[in-house]
Amino acid sequence: MAKAADGSVPRSATRRFGVRLFFSVRSMDRWVPRPTVETSMTAETPVALITGASSGIGLAYADRLARRGHDLVLVARRAERLRALADRLAATYSIDVRTVAADLTQLEDIASLETLIRSEPRLHTLVNNAGIGRLSPSMETSDADAAFTLDLNVVAPTRLSRAALPGLLARNAGAIINIASVMAVEVLPVTTLYSATKSYLLVFSRGLQLETAGTGVRIQAVLPASTATEFWDSAGVPLSALDPASIMTPDQVVDAALAGFDQGETVTFPTVEDDLLWSRYEAARQALFAATQTGRPARRYGLPGTDAP
Ligand SMILES: NC(=O)c1ccc[n+]([C@@H]2O[C@H](COP(=O)([O-])OP(=O)(O)OC[C@H]3O[C@@H](n4cnc5c(N)ncnc54)[C@H](OP(=O)(O)O)[C@@H]3O)[C@@H](O)[C@H]2O)c1
Repeated sequence: MAKAADGSVPRSATRRFGVRLFFSVRSMDRWVPRPTVETSMTAETPVALITGASSGIGLAYADRLARRGHDLVLVARRAERLRALADRLAATYSIDVRTVAADLTQLEDIASLETLIRSEPRLHTLVNNAGIGRLSPSMETSDADAAFTLDLNVVAPTRLSRAALPGLLARNAGAIINIASVMAVEVLPVTTLYSATKSYLLVFSRGLQLETAGTGVRIQAVLPASTATEFWDSAGVPLSALDPASIMTPDQVVDAALAGFDQGETVTFPTVEDDLLWSRYEAARQALFAATQTGRPARRYGLPGTDAP
């Protein structure tokens, strides 16, 4: 498909379906499209599935990937928001947009999404974006909030990635984009759980990069800094408490992340000017790991059989 310099597909070059297939994973007829409408969908049109597409960074991904000529599957809990977005994107970009109302902390909803992912032969891009950060000391976080955070930020992207990878590898094409956070490389007393989940997502992404090396499948970890979204409404820290100069818009995050993707980045820090910082960080990590391979306790512990420093 012909693309403009910015990667977008001119509207005249796209199909004009205007068709939305609405799904709900909260009902028994969840995988029955309603309404059922025949389309002239072409086999090669790539599909992007975006979790957390009802607001913020996920919504921005939906717009940008639609602009790049993808059909979309939009996932979140707020069905009405998804439908309004689907209508807008289908009309603007002449693409096919499905919406899936799903709570990614519910295992049956995850299982239904896994089925959708495994059975979608055109799936090209999975954006694991849905996430939450309840910013409070872990001991003051309720069991329910802690479980919700782990289920949404860790379990869901892990399961959806594992569901997507066999198909992507079989087609030898596509991408998984995991939205982590700069808090993957920093921790504060109020971000223990959040930082741990985002650190997991970074390491998970790095591992998948190794597993898929030499294939046509790309894995990108994106680590945004503070972004003006509804994230802060439930974070326990209002956006107004942050330095305004440190806040990006979701569109800026996604445009930078996609530019990084196009440039072949595997780990993208949208706000970091000096990209050598990451390679130095990686070099330090690798040197630390190499230094662990001595087979004996370090001399500074003064144990028998080791020379004191
Ligand atoms: N904002 C920041 O400063 C910032 C910085 C770094 C990283 N991030 C990361 O960016 C990602 C997107 O967050 P955002 O900033 O765009 O926040 P947001 O506007 O609050 O978006 C979060 C999205 O996740 C969805 N979601 C929440 N709980 C869900 C659940 N149980 N099941 C399904 N979907 C659920 C929400 O939709 P529904 O409520 O409709 O379900 C919403 O679409 C998150 O992973 C976040 O950790 C954000």
